[in-house]
Amino acid sequence: MTTLLYEGKSKRMYETGDPFVLKVEYKDEVTAKNGSRHDFAPGKGRLNNLITSNIFERLEAAGIPSHFIETTSETTQLVRRVDMIPMEIVVRNLAAGDITKRLGFKKGEEFAPPLIEFFLKDDALHDPLINRAHAIHMKLATHDEIDELKKRANQINVALLDIMEPMGLKLADFKIEFGRDRKGNILLADEISPDTCRIWDAATGENFDKDVYRESTGSIVDAYQKFYEKMEEIK
Ligand code: C5P
Repeated sequence: MTTLLYEGKSKRMYETGDPFVLKVEYKDEVTAKNGSRHDFAPGKGRLNNLITSNIFERLEAAGIPSHFIETTSETTQLVRRVDMIPMEIVVRNLAAGDITKRLGFKKGEEFAPPLIEFFLKDDALHDPLINRAHAIHMKLATHDEIDELKKRANQINVALLDIMEPMGLKLADFKIEFGRDRKGNILLADEISPDTCRIWDAATGENFDKDVYRESTGSIVDAYQKFYEKMEEIK
């Protein structure tokens, strides 16, 4: 039983026979500028599914729970069903992208401690930056839940840095999303892949992330494939 529940820019979610489990299928598509740029990228779905699975398994081993259950094929995985919190949480170690334009930080400038920002997930409003008071007023999360989300974001950052450093990579920033399971437990959800991170080669500065597509500097599938191979090497 695989009823399509939702189709997003890069993934499809299907119902399964189990009401608490969904199947996620990663698509061979890439978008930028809120979906106004759109291309097919054969092989990208497989890479993001395998990379996200690998990262979520490593996070679980580091004591960070997520919705991930298991990889079921090269492009699909099973996840726990959660109610998504409509917020994007961005963790920044090094300035890049939006924050260089919004606040004029120099690309590569270090944030110590890392910066954590919240954005409302709303395409029509272009995902605006929000603060704690906005989130509480909009009933997105309670005061304590926001503390918990920040704590988890910091733990995930430490775990991701531990994965990427031995790969010879710098993690400039990344975006995560959380959901609540039926008991109200907060779980890391969505994906962590080169689509949602900025990853730079520590020696050469080469990008292994979606900026390759955003800035049209090469083949996004080749960049993600290189990242995947580096990740497989470190076990
Ligand atoms: O665009 P910005 O500089 O805020 O992005 C910060 C990080 O969050 C980047 O790694 C980017 O790929 C990721 N991001 C994302 N989805 C969004 C916005 C940002 O994965 N909608």
